[in-house]
Amino acid sequence: MSTVLTGITTTGSPHLGNYVGAIKPAIISSQETDMKSYFFLADHHALIKCWEPDRIAQSTKEIAATWLALGLDTDRAVFYRQSDVPEIPELTWLLTCMTSKGLMNRSHAYKAQVQENTEQGEDDPDKGVTMGLFSYPVLMSADILMFNASQVPVGKDQTQHLEMARDIAARFNHHFGEHFVMPQTVVNDNVAVLPGLDGRKMSKSYNNTIPLWLPEKQLRKHIMKIKTNSLEPGEPKDPNDSFVFDIYKAFATEQQVNEMKAEFVNGIAWGTAKQMLFEMINTELQEAREKYQELMSNPDIIEAELQKGAVKARAYATPFLAKLKAAVGIRPIK
Ligand code: TRP
Repeated sequence: MSTVLTGITTTGSPHLGNYVGAIKPAIISSQETDMKSYFFLADHHALIKCWEPDRIAQSTKEIAATWLALGLDTDRAVFYRQSDVPEIPELTWLLTCMTSKGLMNRSHAYKAQVQENTEQGEDDPDKGVTMGLFSYPVLMSADILMFNASQVPVGKDQTQHLEMARDIAARFNHHFGEHFVMPQTVVNDNVAVLPGLDGRKMSKSYNNTIPLWLPEKQLRKHIMKIKTNSLEPGEPKDPNDSFVFDIYKAFATEQQVNEMKAEFVNGIAWGTAKQMLFEMINTELQEAREKYQELMSNPDIIEAELQKGAVKARAYATPFLAKLKAAVGIRPIK
């Protein structure tokens, strides 16, 4: 049975891009019977880039409520908060001691910061680099190796971290025995990378997102703001050169996509196309939105779900970590 695992860093509010690119496909894959799924809220990762306690707490709540509202079956999938599994930071240390500094020097996240400092003429190339940022790939490796995940669905920007996880796992295995499965990266090309309002990839760092749980009226307003060209109603439009169409595609069935293509060729007005897009997204999210609001006003339910997940996660992590510690020589005296 293969194990799928992925985490979401808890620094922001869920948006349509997260939904289409990560959460929805994860929930669908978790319904497959031959898969074991681990989904978690990466709140230790959040600390690396965010020192706003209320924001982290609020984001954790919103992201947890999102997965639950969208129908994640928490009896099947293991759904937990990273910080509720103390075995993970413990494993992080064991792995840190097996990780060469040179490997971390090559991490994109770290190098990007150094490059920015250099470009800005800073004397200290490591300005703003915490040890959290520097050794972030080790924590991520621990997340994955703790549960011997074989498949890790992530965005393309995370593939280097997965290579590092395999490097670290292989070194540990080499010294202490075959404990870890080599995790494979799953970059799903069928899953759409959603454009944001300005056409660049929808991302909170570009400030171009459509939040997932906007009330109906505001959702419509946001969709009306998606960038288009200035072609008039009646003028034929190219579906392959339209952000409205790109987003529509991510939600529609094949038949609906073909119908919309025909509408474009027939010169549908941008306002009408956007209205159709709004209706499609709104219909898909309507029921879950109510569920989400209900969960947000009943935080105890969310907390109880996460505690249930932590128990399940630790049922695997506790004995596995004990075995790993014994392997490195941390054992009861005898
Ligand atoms: N670093 C990932 C991101 O920023 C989130 C993450 C943390 C993760 N730990 C993970 C993803 C383990 C997959 C597996 O998107």
